This record gives sequence, structure tokens and C-alpha cells, in this order.
Amino acid sequence: MAAITSAAVTIPSSFTGLKASASSSKAATSVVATRAAPKFSVKASLKDFGVAVAATAASAMLASNALAVDVKLGGDDGSLSFLPGEFEVASGEKITFINNAGFPHNVVFDDDNVPAGVDVSKISMDEEALLNAKGETYSVSLTEKGTYTFYCSPHQGAGMVGKVTVK
Ligand code: CU
Repeated sequence: MAAITSAAVTIPSSFTGLKASASSSKAATSVVATRAAPKFSVKASLKDFGVAVAATAASAMLASNALAVDVKLGGDDGSLSFLPGEFEVASGEKITFINNAGFPHNVVFDDDNVPAGVDVSKISMDEEALLNAKGETYSVSLTEKGTYTFYCSPHQGAGMVGKVTVK
């Protein structure tokens, strides 16, 4: 569980750090530097095929890799849980919940456990709305920094709760 959480969060966080380091005073970590190197070398080699191709490839890489976290709804082993159940994102990072197993599920943010001023109705699914088929998704971006907890209303009692920290 801990390993899954860490792996799921490391990639988008490092890309965020990369962006931030270019435009602000945020310190780049060694992880960012390591990841930046292969990216630039790929871009450089693509330039041999022309600038337009390189530009297209660069934006495709951004779209697929940067600023996104996927969270499974329901474990492959039938567990009623969010996977990962605890993770970090950057402000504005897209979080996509993907219906996986044990559905129906939904995603409702807990009014009592979000940063001050956040309107949970704007970031939650309706309590009555459900994802009924495998692969259905619900996406949300959180901008206010702090810790949010969320739950699946059909399975809250079974412990299907999660926590995300926006940095
Ligand atoms: Cu559920």
C-alpha cells in the first residue's frame, strides 16, 4: 500500500517541481533533475525530424505525463478502497478516479475535512450519482492547498475513504 502510494505520487510531483523550478523560486529536487535529463534528450533527438514534429511530441508528453494522478476505485482483490488511499498533488493537478472493481462507487468530499472556504459541492459527485461500469471516471482538480478527505457514499461504512493533500 505504501509503495503504491509513493509510486503514484512521485511522477506527477516531480513534473510539477520541474515546472515550478523554471518559473519560481521553488527548489528543484534531485528527482526532478534525473527525470528532466531523458526528456530533454528525447526532444533533442526528435529535432532531427523537424521542429514541428518535436513540438508535437513535446506537448503529447506533457498531456500524458504531467499534472495528473489516477486513483482506482476498488481493488483488484475486491477490496472496497481508493488506490492509492492517500496521496499528494500539486494545486490544480488533475485527479482522475477510475472505476475498477466492487462498484458502484462515487467520490464525495467530506465537508468537515477540507481547507477552509472550499465548497465541497463543487468538487464532489452527487451523493446519489454512481459510477456503475468498469472504466467510468470522475475527474477533479483541487486548487486550495491543504488536506481533503473524501469517501465513497455506498462504501463509506466499509472504510472506503481517502485523503489527498494539495501542496
Ligand atoms: Cu465504493
